[in-house]
Amino acid sequence: MRHILVIGIGAGNPEHITVQAINALNRADVLFIPTKGAKKTELAEVRRDICARYVTRSDSRTVEFAVPVRRTEERSYVQSVDDWHASIAGTYEALLESELADGQTGAFLVWGDPMLYDSTIRIVERVRARGSVAFDFDVVPGITSLQALCASHRIPLNLVGKPVEITTGRRLAESFPHRSETAVVMLDGEQAFQKIDDPDAEIYWGAYLGTPDEIVISGRLADVRQEILKTRAEARERMGWIMDIYLLRKGADFDE
Ligand SMILES: C[S@@+](CC[C@H](N)C(=O)[O-])C[C@H]1O[C@@H](n2cnc3c(N)ncnc32)[C@H](O)[C@@H]1O
Repeated sequence: MRHILVIGIGAGNPEHITVQAINALNRADVLFIPTKGAKKTELAEVRRDICARYVTRSDSRTVEFAVPVRRTEERSYVQSVDDWHASIAGTYEALLESELADGQTGAFLVWGDPMLYDSTIRIVERVRARGSVAFDFDVVPGITSLQALCASHRIPLNLVGKPVEITTGRRLAESFPHRSETAVVMLDGEQAFQKIDDPDAEIYWGAYLGTPDEIVISGRLADVRQEILKTRAEARERMGWIMDIYLLRKGADFDE
């Protein structure tokens, strides 16, 4: 039986890795590193850096693999993601068959934490359900970009006793500000905060968190909206890619 470790490695800062994750990296015979194409080489670089810093056993191997691209044409969002996961499952299955011998342990290094807007766990389950490679797996938690965002802004996530909603740019309008006083937005390709016009809304925005390129901006949304849009566009142009996350908040601690 093969064994798989799904290891959260933090969201950009190589120091945001737990002792449990370091020990797990050193249990792996093979470390699988996804590369996401030329524009995001920095992300593969963080993973390589983590292996170079923390893997102390000399007999493990690193295997880099290309993540299939999601196709969106002529299909719904859900269908597109389902097809994409099926394609990644095929890639994982081939990797496990060709790179991992029976009895060996392989590790997938997952950005941030595997439970937050990441499908590694469900894809690993998919591969297991296909039944052609037998393995079991464990998950090791990591520091998420949400934690990095709150730490960089020095804020608690929630208002006292209040709920928090974590959502995507595509669905922000459903939740904030009417449904939740705090919304955290990830995977936002459309800068959905532009459409929030509540005068009391505050925003805590961060890009490339934990990396040397980290940028953070906060303030009343109406006051900093344009600055964030401009900064984001310039950074994206300069770097060729961007990863950002933000927290929107309305109200204060102890509001009834
Ligand atoms: C596919 S999700 C993965 C989230 C990851 N599992 C985590 O725990 O943070 C990618 C999204 O996470 C956010 N993200 C991840 N790393 C980030 C970083 N270093 N700085 C800002 N946002 C980040 C962005 O919203 C990005 O679109």
